[in-house]
Amino acid sequence: MSYRQARWIEPTIFELSRPGAIGIDFPEIDEVLQRELKEALDEIPEGLKRRELFLPELSELEVVRHFTRLSQMNFSVSTGMYPLGSCTMKYNPVMNEELAYDEKILNVHPLQPLETIQGCLEIMWRLEQILKEITGMSRFSLQPAAGAHGEFLGCLIIRAYHRDRGLHNKNIMIIPDSAHGTNPASATMAGYQVKVVKSDKDGCVDINELEEIVDEKVAGIMLTNPNTLGVFEKNIDKIVEIIHGVDGLLYYDGANLNALLGKVRPGDMGFDIVHLNLHKTFSTPHGGGGPGSGPVGVVDKLVDYLPSPLVNYDESKGVFYLDYERPKAVGKIKMFYGNFSVLVKAYAYLLRMGGEGLKKVAEASVLASNYLLYKVKKLKGVTLPYAPESPRKHEFVVSLSKLYRETGVTAKDVAKRLLDYGFHAPTIYFPLIVEEAFMVEPTESESKRELDNFYNVLSRIIEEAYSDPEKVKSAPHNTAVGRINEVKASHPKTMTPSWRVYIKRGNKP
Ligand SMILES: Cc1ncc(COP(=O)(O)O)c(C=O)c1O
Repeated sequence: MSYRQARWIEPTIFELSRPGAIGIDFPEIDEVLQRELKEALDEIPEGLKRRELFLPELSELEVVRHFTRLSQMNFSVSTGMYPLGSCTMKYNPVMNEELAYDEKILNVHPLQPLETIQGCLEIMWRLEQILKEITGMSRFSLQPAAGAHGEFLGCLIIRAYHRDRGLHNKNIMIIPDSAHGTNPASATMAGYQVKVVKSDKDGCVDINELEEIVDEKVAGIMLTNPNTLGVFEKNIDKIVEIIHGVDGLLYYDGANLNALLGKVRPGDMGFDIVHLNLHKTFSTPHGGGGPGSGPVGVVDKLVDYLPSPLVNYDESKGVFYLDYERPKAVGKIKMFYGNFSVLVKAYAYLLRMGGEGLKKVAEASVLASNYLLYKVKKLKGVTLPYAPESPRKHEFVVSLSKLYRETGVTAKDVAKRLLDYGFHAPTIYFPLIVEEAFMVEPTESESKRELDNFYNVLSRIIEEAYSDPEKVKSAPHNTAVGRINEVKASHPKTMTPSWRVYIKRGNKP
C-alpha cells in the first residue's frame, strides 16, 4: 500500500491553519519596548530582513489535539513491547531522563572553567571506573556518539598501535558473517580490507577457516559475543590465541552487553578493545534519532591512543582535570566530551542497579529469551537454524523460510502483522546467514505475561498465515499508515501529500 492509500493521515499543522484563529494572546507592547524593537530592527541590513513569515494559525485546543494525535501515531516502549533483536529498547527508567534534564546538568557549557564543572567531570570519571570494572578494560574514552562511531574509533586505535610498532603491512580486519553491518563498514572506513570468516554449524566462528585465513597481514578481528544469533562463542580462547599469535588485536562489539553483565568480562576473555552502547544497555532509549553514546575501552597497551581529553583525578589536590598531554592520541572523535546527558543516564542507571542488580539483568534477559524461544521454535513453519537444541543468550534468531515455502507469507509480513496487535516488529532479515530471519530480543524488562502475550499473538499470526495468507501479506490493517513504498520512502525527491498541499498554496519548501 502506498502512502496515498493510507487510512488516516494527520494533516500538517500548516494544512490545519485557519487564518485569523488565535491560540495565545500576547500583551500589548508598550511604547518603550516598541522603540527598542524598532531600533533593533533598524540595525538589521535590509537584505537580511524577512519579508513574510507563514505561521500556522490555530486555537490552543487545535494545537494540543494535533500534537497529541501525532504522538499517538507513534509506537514507543511506553505503549508496547519492543522485541527488536540487536537494537532494542531495554530498561529506560524515566527517573534517569529527569536527572539528565536537571538544570544543573542541562545548562552547563563544555567551555566553562574546570573549577565550575567539577561535578560533571566527577560523573564522567566515576562512570568510567564502573565501565572499567564491568568490562575488564584499563581506560575508556566517552567521546563516541554511537556504537558504530565507537567501532570506527576502535579501528583507528588498532591502526595507530600497529603503525607505532612499525607493522605497516597489517591491513586486514577479520569479521564473522554473522556480524552487525556496522562492523565491516567501520573497518572499511578506517582503511582496512575486510575478510569474512564463516560461521560453523553451531553458529560460532569456524575455527578451521579462521586458521586458514589468518596471516601476518591481519590487524585484528571484530567479534560480537554473544553473537547476533544469540550464541556465545565457545571457542573464544582459541580465537584469542590465533589472533594474538600474529600480533593482531581483538575488538569486542559490546553493543548488547546485557546478557553478560556481571557474569563474564570481555577483558577476561582476551579482548583488547571494547565498545558499549550506553543508549541500549544502560538506560538511554535506542533508535529515537536522539543522542547516543558508544564509549570505547582499551587494555593497558592501547591507552595512549585513546582520543583526548581523558578525565583524570588529582588525588593530592582533590580535583578532576582534563588530560590533553597525550601525544599518541588518535585525535578527537567528537566535540568536547561526548553526549553528556547520555553519560548521566548511564551513571544513574548503574548506581541504581548496583553489581547485584546488573547480574539480575543478565539472568533475566537470558531467561526471557530462552523462555520465548522454547515456545516459538515449536510453532508450525518456524525453525531454529544453528545448534537447534542449544539455549541462546539475550536474543534468538528463528527462520520463517518453511512458513514462506508453505504459505507465501514472509518474515516481513509476519513482522507487519504484529503491528496490528500492538507489538513493535522484531528485526528481520538480519543476520544475513539466516534465511527469512526473524530476530527477537525480549529484554530483561518484560514480564512473563507480556512474553506470553507476544507468543500467543505470534502463534495466531502463524495460524492466519496458513488459513488466510492474504490477511497477513496485506498487514498492517490497524495502524495509521499501511505499507509504505519502501523504496520511495527513502528517496529524497519523494514528498508526502501534505508537503505537496503546502507547496501548492504558494509556499516555498
Ligand atoms: C551488534 C551491534 N553492533 C553495533 C551496533 C551499532 O550501534 P549504533 O546503532 O549505536 O551505531 C548495533 C546496533 O545497535 C548492534 O546491534
